[in-house]
Amino acid sequence: MAAITMKNIVKQYGDGFPAVNDVSLDIADGEFMILVGPSGCGKSTLLRMIVGLEDITSGDMLIGDERVNEKAPRDRNLSMVFQNYALYPHLTVFENIAFPLRLHKVSDTQVKERVQKAAALLELTEHLDRKPANLSGGQRQRVAMGRAIVREAQAFLFDEPLSNLDAKLRGQMRTEISRLQKRLGITTVYVTHDQVEAMTLGDRVAVLRKGVLQQVASPRTLYEEPVNLFVAGFIGSPPMNFIPAAVADGELRTPFGPMRLPQTRSVDLSGREMVLVGARPEAFEDAAVVSDTVRDHGMTFDANVDVIEWLGNEQYAYVPYEAPDDIRKRLAELERELDSEAMRTQLVVSLDATSRLAEGSAAPLWLDLRTVHIFDPASGDNLTVSPTRGVEAPARQSGQSTADRGSEAGASDEDSRPQTPQAGAGEGTASG
Ligand SMILES: Nc1ncnc2c1ncn2[C@@H]1O[C@H](COP(=O)(O)OP(=O)(O)O)[C@@H](O)[C@H]1O
Ligand SMILES: [Mg+2]
Repeated sequence: MAAITMKNIVKQYGDGFPAVNDVSLDIADGEFMILVGPSGCGKSTLLRMIVGLEDITSGDMLIGDERVNEKAPRDRNLSMVFQNYALYPHLTVFENIAFPLRLHKVSDTQVKERVQKAAALLELTEHLDRKPANLSGGQRQRVAMGRAIVREAQAFLFDEPLSNLDAKLRGQMRTEISRLQKRLGITTVYVTHDQVEAMTLGDRVAVLRKGVLQQVASPRTLYEEPVNLFVAGFIGSPPMNFIPAAVADGELRTPFGPMRLPQTRSVDLSGREMVLVGARPEAFEDAAVVSDTVRDHGMTFDANVDVIEWLGNEQYAYVPYEAPDDIRKRLAELERELDSEAMRTQLVVSLDATSRLAEGSAAPLWLDLRTVHIFDPASGDNLTVSPTRGVEAPARQSGQSTADRGSEAGASDEDSRPQTPQAGAGEGTASG
């Protein structure tokens, strides 16, 4: 296993088009890194440069401490993990896993030892004599990973491995890959354009836009502190709402009335005429169900609820509104770039399942202002987030297990402070 370090990596194809543009990224030993972005943003190109299938135009690619720019793929000892189509149907599970060792003429005793060790890790021991066709999708995935494990590869690389599967199988495989990577602790780079995979699989997520790295952070930070409109719009479903606000006398005027930002979200508005206020669907609520203790943290306004979608555990309300032409244009542009669901000028609001708001009614809604973001519509910059949020350090030290992935012990600045020992626990027993 090894760390992967990219320094100012550029890839220009024949026509001079920079498919990857000055990407610097440190992937820690044992880390699960996701590369995400819309189709054509350069994810595959970057992954292929790591493996050695694509020449690097400029910059340095390091695996461990070694510069590998000029090394052939087979000398990099990395493993691209493919789907079941890469398994040989006429070979047993044992021989499928053993395949790379057979190619390298490894002795029979060695082969047996390594395959059995991998099979035990992958819970495939009792299936070693079976053929791939008789296995479930998840088991086949494990066989494919077993092949990578016996090679003792430095890292696993995946390029949208689940994109051809149906939704149910995709969910299963996602869990399978996550569980295995945690158990093995092998450095992993995983390319996807699916934001659910991006949010659930990785320790950190690197968001690419047109070959340029936008933000590298834990899923939680990406969601809560996106550095710009692009990241904010890409992560989250339904997406963040972007509400136009005119700046007048230092105050924000929105289609839903004046908005007074709390101290924690306030930004310097001097010299600005217009900003976009970003608010996640869940920042809104039916004002009728908001308790008095939190009401003061937000604004209450009258909205014309157009459509309501009731999903049992939650419901979404749609609230159309008027926006100036240039803002409409900017939002349409963003939508095209994100390949995303329509970001027309309507609010998508998540309501408590108990809310009794009806379609076609004018109703008071409440917006929690403690979590809103203020964006510059032209540059897209998030004015509420400090620029240092762009690249977040790896959550873990090299070699440490990834058992905390998915828990709150994520990777934000706050979380990486040393923990105080819990009451009753002796000094020095706290992990941290
Ligand atoms: N072999 C190639 N020759 C020329 N342009 C390419 C080649 N491969 C990819 N590109 C271009 O590079 C950009 C990034 O492609 P790619 O890395 O495949 O994106 P992604 O995997 O994010 O969808 C795209 O604009 C694509 O058209
Ligand atoms: Mg691709």
